[in-house]
Amino acid sequence: PHVAVLIVAAGSGTRLGAGVPKAFARFAGATVLEHAVRGAFGVGRLVVVAPPESIDEARAIVEPIDPEAVVVGGGASRQASVAAGLAVLEPGIRIVLVHDAARALTPRQQLEAVASAVAETGAGVIPALPVSDTIKLVDGQTVLDTVDRSRLAAVQTPQGFPREPLDRAYAGATAEYTDDAALFAAAGGIVVTVEGSPLAFKITTAADLARAEQEAGDAVG
Ligand code: CTP
Ligand code: MG
Repeated sequence: PHVAVLIVAAGSGTRLGAGVPKAFARFAGATVLEHAVRGAFGVGRLVVVAPPESIDEARAIVEPIDPEAVVVGGGASRQASVAAGLAVLEPGIRIVLVHDAARALTPRQQLEAVASAVAETGAGVIPALPVSDTIKLVDGQTVLDTVDRSRLAAVQTPQGFPREPLDRAYAGATAEYTDDAALFAAAGGIVVTVEGSPLAFKITTAADLARAEQEAGDAVG
């Protein structure tokens, strides 16, 4: 009841190259946005941030799933799109999950786990997975060092935060951050991890869209 899920879907999908904004690219019989909204439905109040020129198209996808969802236009950067979503949250919202529409197959359980962890800890909470590749520190072609993998984590969304400090962090942000947790931490917030899921991978390229098609088929049987 006090949770909002802010789904950012306003990107252009340049690397995917589908000819439409990534939210409207299709796999397994539905758009990326429809998959994402279905996965988040029921976790909290839904706010969808769509490409400003495609708000009606986004509403036509979102409203049949959740008539209460709010759809607003995004900005030129992901951070601006998140800010646009935060601006329309109702006063009663206490916990905000910021989620990429591009992580369209994220299990609902991952959203619920992040929301619960925010409620329990009062901290920012991000899903993370161990890094399986060996990672090198390089300078151009030269290998400088092998990084200790046990101290690295690959992070996903949703990233969950208590609402007031997140609003304050966004209001005070004077730089672009790589994710919401970095922005929150730069404002002094504590961030902890919960276990992520391989299914929460981000659809970035055409190969990722093919993987999503495959995974969605596997899930059905
Ligand atoms: N996003 C957004 N507003 C932007 C940029 C990105 O809401 N101005 C959203 C995307 O819609 C996506 C998520 O942020 O759900 C992660 O961004 P990314 O994977 O980079 O998507 P795009 O920016 O659309 O893709 P690309 O960078 O290849 O253009
Ligand atoms: Mg992008």
